Amino acid sequence: MAPLLIAIDGPAASGKGTLARRLAGHFGLPHLDTGLLYRAVGRMAERTGGDPAAIAAGLTAADLADPALRGDDAGQAASRVAALAEVRANLLKFQREFSHQASGAVLDGRDIGTVICPEAPVKLFVTASLSARADRRYRELRQQGADTIRPRVLAELAERDRRDSERAAAPLKAAPDAYLLDTSDMDADAAFADALAFIQRKGFRSPGP
Ligand code: C5P
Repeated sequence: MAPLLIAIDGPAASGKGTLARRLAGHFGLPHLDTGLLYRAVGRMAERTGGDPAAIAAGLTAADLADPALRGDDAGQAASRVAALAEVRANLLKFQREFSHQASGAVLDGRDIGTVICPEAPVKLFVTASLSARADRRYRELRQQGADTIRPRVLAELAERDRRDSERAAAPLKAAPDAYLLDTSDMDADAAFADALAFIQRKGFRSPGP
């Protein structure tokens, strides 16, 4: 059987990152959060004023470790450089090499099932209503001690959704053969169970005890 390559796409705060980490842990697979690549490029470009495409070409795994990349400012910076076709092209090789490991892999992002790994045997498109995603992200930010209000969180998500879906280069969309998972009324356990059942229907077994 082909290696288990799981491609997960979806908008911000849909639950795709949590799901990706849990599936990777369950199947013992390496995981790449591809949003971190765009976040690192966006942040470095803002700080240094350098050319985003050149920064993308020189990016290394060490550049992805900065905890500040998880913040909402880095998310906005990411979605601006992510619209540049040359940035996307320069990040392609890194992502493809990661996905071609003999062990299989889990990648999550916006264009994994459509552009990076169209051959993946398992594709999931994780979504949720804007309101449910804003609730989640707002709770997360408050827990981290951030000083923000829900309407601001919602407006930022809506802006990122619009930029990611309307751009010409690899816009956010589900691959035609992706399994759609709407997590608006699901917790992380329910989303994991649903995704796992789909993967098992595709013929992949969970590792034994
Ligand atoms: O997933 P995350 O919120 O970390 O992604 C940050 C931004 O990076 C997204 O809003 C999107 O613009 C961009 N991105 C992308 N393609 C990916 C992953 C992220 O365009 N595969």
